Amino acid sequence: MVKANFRIDLPESDIDVSCEVVNPFGDRQQMEHLLSTFCQLYAQRPFDNTGGVLFSSAFAYFCFLQRIKPNLVIESGIWRGFSTWLIDSMLPDATLYCLDPVLMMPLEFEATYRPSRAFYSTQDFSCIRFSFADATKTCVIFDDHQNVVPRLEQAANYGIQHIILDDNQYEPTYHESITHLIKQAHPVLPYLFQSVAEYYLFPPLVPPVPEGCPLAPLWEEVPECLQALKLNLAAELVYSWVTYLRLS
Ligand SMILES: C[S@@+](CC[C@H](N)C(=O)[O-])C[C@H]1O[C@@H](n2cnc3c(N)ncnc32)[C@H](O)[C@@H]1O
Repeated sequence: MVKANFRIDLPESDIDVSCEVVNPFGDRQQMEHLLSTFCQLYAQRPFDNTGGVLFSSAFAYFCFLQRIKPNLVIESGIWRGFSTWLIDSMLPDATLYCLDPVLMMPLEFEATYRPSRAFYSTQDFSCIRFSFADATKTCVIFDDHQNVVPRLEQAANYGIQHIILDDNQYEPTYHESITHLIKQAHPVLPYLFQSVAEYYLFPPLVPPVPEGCPLAPLWEEVPECLQALKLNLAAELVYSWVTYLRLS
């Protein structure tokens, strides 16, 4: 049984996977509170990010991490470290692993966020021999543009249940996402979803709803606390299909 926030059409198969539709974002008061807390945090961001996570994706991470409360987070794909800043700020006691080949590239960023308490590696997630005291309190965030099926297998092999996927997108790109597989009614889906307990795509914050997105926006117009940040909303509210998935 998969709990999901929209009906997932799985292709016919011998494997019987049923789906219960639930809405983890349905508590209006809670969402307003999360947004206002997040806006206060975002106002303290160390730099304006480029080429990575911006407001709407960061808010999705924030909501999911609030829910999971992991004591260990692995980030695969850190770029300038904006998401690292978010995790470091909201989970000061969590152990942090940051993986990205960018660390060995001769790039000169105007600013980065690399906290000394984080463990850094240029190795791929699949190659690090993680062993966790309690893998059930571990969360991995994949923002590394790699194909999703091997990533899920690798996480499962480490015993990790909590997974946040960025760029679980509908439009074609150079990695394969679960949304792509759903769009194709791919025969791997029943095998994949038989090991999934929860699957929540974070909704767009405000209209318009991007092509292929099955969810209504959380707000009809830009909420006041967000307007007060005076952001470049066209960029900051770009939808990146952030998804939480819990393996069973
Ligand atoms: C969209 S950026 C990450 C954005 C970042 N999370 C942020 O907060 O802005 C994608 C990153 O994935 C990295 N990447 C590519 N292949 C990777 C791999 N196999 N493992 C980890 N990171 C990888 C790239 O170097 C790049 O820094």
